[in-house]
Amino acid sequence: MKLNGTMAVNQKGHLEIGGCDTVDLAGEFGTPLYVVDEAHFRQNCRDYCRAFKDKYGAEVIYAGKTLLNLAVCRMVDEEGLGLDVVSGGELYTALKAGFPAGRVYFHGNNKSPAELEMALGAGVKRIIVDSLFELELLNEIAGTAGSKAGIILRLTPGVEAHTHEYVKTGQIDCKFGLVIDNGQALAVVKRALEMGNVVLKGIHCHIGSQIFDLGAYSHTARLMMSFAKQIYDVTGYAIKELDLGGGLGVYYTEGDQAPLVSEFADTVSRFVLKKASEYEMPAPKIIVEPGRSISGPAGSTLYTVGAVKEIPGVRKYISVDGGMGDNPRPALYQSSYEACLANKAGMAPAEVVSVAGKYCESGDILIRDIILPAAAAGDILAVSCTGAYNYSMSMNYNRLPRPAMVLVGGGRAELITRRESYEDLIKNDLIPQRLARVYTTTGG
Ligand code: LLP
Repeated sequence: MKLNGTMAVNQKGHLEIGGCDTVDLAGEFGTPLYVVDEAHFRQNCRDYCRAFKDKYGAEVIYAGKTLLNLAVCRMVDEEGLGLDVVSGGELYTALKAGFPAGRVYFHGNNKSPAELEMALGAGVKRIIVDSLFELELLNEIAGTAGSKAGIILRLTPGVEAHTHEYVKTGQIDCKFGLVIDNGQALAVVKRALEMGNVVLKGIHCHIGSQIFDLGAYSHTARLMMSFAKQIYDVTGYAIKELDLGGGLGVYYTEGDQAPLVSEFADTVSRFVLKKASEYEMPAPKIIVEPGRSISGPAGSTLYTVGAVKEIPGVRKYISVDGGMGDNPRPALYQSSYEACLANKAGMAPAEVVSVAGKYCESGDILIRDIILPAAAAGDILAVSCTGAYNYSMSMNYNRLPRPAMVLVGGGRAELITRRESYEDLIKNDLIPQRLARVYTTTGG
């Protein structure tokens, strides 16, 4: 496993994160355990701020869908980033953490009237409007509330970004955003400009996630700037904000080559500036919405190894006490991860094993074929780069409680999300009257 952030192997031969021995963390907080490396998380925020904000005056919005709880909101706030939320629940979390609503951007393709009211009431800075339906709804809700909503229109530029290529086709057929090519987007821009209760600030797109090819971003910026020019020519309105979404890839396993954040910033910013001057338009403020590239590498998950099973001539499985419930990505997307035995981090790899989760699904395999030192029950397995889309996509399948999360740094570990209890699992269950009976443990 490639060590990242503050990871190190200490004198005991144990994996350490944030100056904390992960074997001790497993002992103190139990497993499975999400571990967030505070210094690494903050460094990733700072890299973005330096590359985009300080150099080009751009706005950096952290995508909360990757990892969000109260402590994460506080760190994002302290680092001076904005926050992208996609639901009333994420917005509620931000507000409860005291995150300034004036730096919150509200996304989503089907925000409910209640969510829009909540956002307007809280003073959310921007609502990313996804459709004509939502535009009309928001204009009405803002009118009733006597407020004006600052909006950005989400567009579908028709770029589909893959790791090593991008194509301008398929993504037109997408549940998100307004299509540029067929004229829908321009019609909605015109409609927004004539409305009384919304203020159009700019345009947005998001071309995908885990993107390594910066060419996909230049290509997208070209299409977005060309549309901005069209808006300018047709309506005389020069967009003030150009939101290019998130998506920068990160290292999970060998072969993943992520560009530097500074290269990402230079590529898109220079391109937008060049186009603006070519088109003789004021340059819009660039907004980016990184999620995975901030939270992903800053998180790891600790598990305890239980059953070890060898099928001679076929495969050796080591089973851990979590799996697809705390990390659905391998089962959902065939995602790959690296791992090490945290208590044997100094030992040489000895055998190829597959790491199985404990959920009742054959597909619940966290890692297929990984080389580890000889594993035994009681070992602690650390999986790296689980900060993004793990806790946020976790579930209670098989009624397994969600893991706890600790924030580590400077040799200290603090609980930032408590482990769910069995009691938590039944706290919303109700027994209807007709099923009510007195339950006695003596039977009868
Ligand atoms: N902005 C918008 C509008 C988005 O839809 C997303 C992610 C982001 C920003 C952040 O993208 P990032 O920088 O994290 O790539 N669950 C999948 C990924 C889903 C991406 C959803 N949108 C996974 O685990 O790979």
